[in-house]
Amino acid sequence: MADDHGARDVVSAGQSARSVAVPVSASQETSVSPGLGVIAPDRFENPGIPPHQPRVTDLDPKKEKRAERTVYTLFYLSLAGSVFAIAAYFGFPIEENNIASTRMNNLMIGIGISLALLAIGIAAVHWGKALMPEEEMIDHRHPVIGSPATRARAVEIFDQANKESGLGRRSLLRNSLIGALVAFPLPAIVLFRDLYPGNQEDPVSALSHTMWKEGVRLTRDPSGTPIRASEVTLGSAFHVIPEGLDESEHYLEEKAKAAVLLMRLRPDELNEIEERKSWSYDGIVAYSKICTHVGCPVALYEQITHHLLCPCHQSQFDVTNHCEVIFGPAARPLPQLPIAVDDEGYLIAQSDFTEPVGPSFWERASVNDN
Ligand code: FES
Repeated sequence: MADDHGARDVVSAGQSARSVAVPVSASQETSVSPGLGVIAPDRFENPGIPPHQPRVTDLDPKKEKRAERTVYTLFYLSLAGSVFAIAAYFGFPIEENNIASTRMNNLMIGIGISLALLAIGIAAVHWGKALMPEEEMIDHRHPVIGSPATRARAVEIFDQANKESGLGRRSLLRNSLIGALVAFPLPAIVLFRDLYPGNQEDPVSALSHTMWKEGVRLTRDPSGTPIRASEVTLGSAFHVIPEGLDESEHYLEEKAKAAVLLMRLRPDELNEIEERKSWSYDGIVAYSKICTHVGCPVALYEQITHHLLCPCHQSQFDVTNHCEVIFGPAARPLPQLPIAVDDEGYLIAQSDFTEPVGPSFWERASVNDN
């Protein structure tokens, strides 16, 4: 701004025929004829502050009272939403192997928390718009110094805010607000309680093992039909679960760890390291379907390139090279399941995975072990 004004002054003062220097910027100067210098007028004039329009709640005490009622009703509604979320947690428990109960539990808790948040938000906005003083104020900038006078003024402002918001006077508003704010975090405390393992299996051990063990047949997902090696043709891919999964006590948890992808390549396409040559059967290989990034199912197989693709964040794994990561955020290859064939020609596991499947976790020995 200072430069613009300087330029304007120089040009308007230079009414003689000679050229005058116009400082375009501090680092650059140019000469123009004063006859070409145009001083643009300000395009807008400051319209100033519009006249104050009082609101209905400023003019009519009944409407003010009604607005106050609306606000504390909303705070109570929020409180009710929080209590409902807690009640829903217990009233709609998640039952084992029952997806509908999980949906209902999430739905009811979600309704309670949404209601609590929404009602607090609407109440706060309505309070500000309908009840707090509506004045245009100009707050001049001042140095940020915590002098005694500034602190005294701050106290004065708090006092004023207290008077204007009516927190001291309107006890119903204050109490309902406190109630709503105190109740709002309670559903989170109840929900996070579930993160504590309690009497359940040690989470590290639970994450380190799956249902696979020596002799367990590989079966189709979801029918559970065992798979013969002869059925796995070149280029095909099978979604696989362990035999007996449907009888498991924790069906979903076990499936989330044990899901496997089965593919057949030409044996000469596999670059198998010496220790793993016995883990495949005639070009048939089995890898964990759980992405090592954050655990999505790696569901896409490109049979020309033999790449597996995780649709969540596009990690790609190369089946020909022990599913090493060739693209994306995954940090580790997909764990391989050692397989063999039983007397009847069905594919079976030789053992469990030799490393934890899925994303890394703190207690995992190393993020790069194979
Ligand atoms: S979960 Fe697979 S790439 Fe993120």
